Amino acid sequence: MMQEQDNNNPQKSANYGQSVARPIVLIGMMGAGKTRLGQVLAQKLDLPFYDSDAVIERTHNTTIAQYFEKYGEAAFRETEYETFERLMENAAPMVISAGGGAVTHAKTRDIITKKACAIWLEADVSTLVRRCAGNDSRPLLKSGDPHAILSGLLERRAPLYAELAQFSVRTDRHSIDDIIQTILNGLKQCK
Ligand code: S3P
Repeated sequence: MMQEQDNNNPQKSANYGQSVARPIVLIGMMGAGKTRLGQVLAQKLDLPFYDSDAVIERTHNTTIAQYFEKYGEAAFRETEYETFERLMENAAPMVISAGGGAVTHAKTRDIITKKACAIWLEADVSTLVRRCAGNDSRPLLKSGDPHAILSGLLERRAPLYAELAQFSVRTDRHSIDDIIQTILNGLKQCK
């Protein structure tokens, strides 16, 4: 419809907002654009936005890197799960950008499946590497060549992202406006 082609039409955003009945969780690799796109999407839909990493950092008064260093990855995954549990307690509509590895924890996958609509943001590995470069906040990228690490993680995680997501959107080939519009158009699959 004509309204759907106009990104700046507030009436259209309100309509999309009404069509969202539960949390939207953006999943995908580090550097896929989950936080930036999540912020824009939440604004379009007039919904609250949460970045699970930022919530963990606030709640535990730490950085993700410090948390990994002190407690290790397994403890982080459990904390990540508890964060999703708290955020989605009432399954209220909101937009959450998930840490890239959230899908590796069975309990986190389970709660997302039960309470949310997951959208997989995809990008090729060289794009992920470029976007993550110069940012030392990601502990998993510190132990070697980022391209090799991200390739390996993507290979292992892709089936999990695919299984969890209602649909996927590429974030390495289009403008933010176009990506957001594709997500908005896809929301009808989030029943
Ligand atoms: C991780 C991704 C990070 C963060 C942590 C672990 C991962 O989040 O949760 O460094 O395992 O892929 P982003 O995907 O937001 O960078």
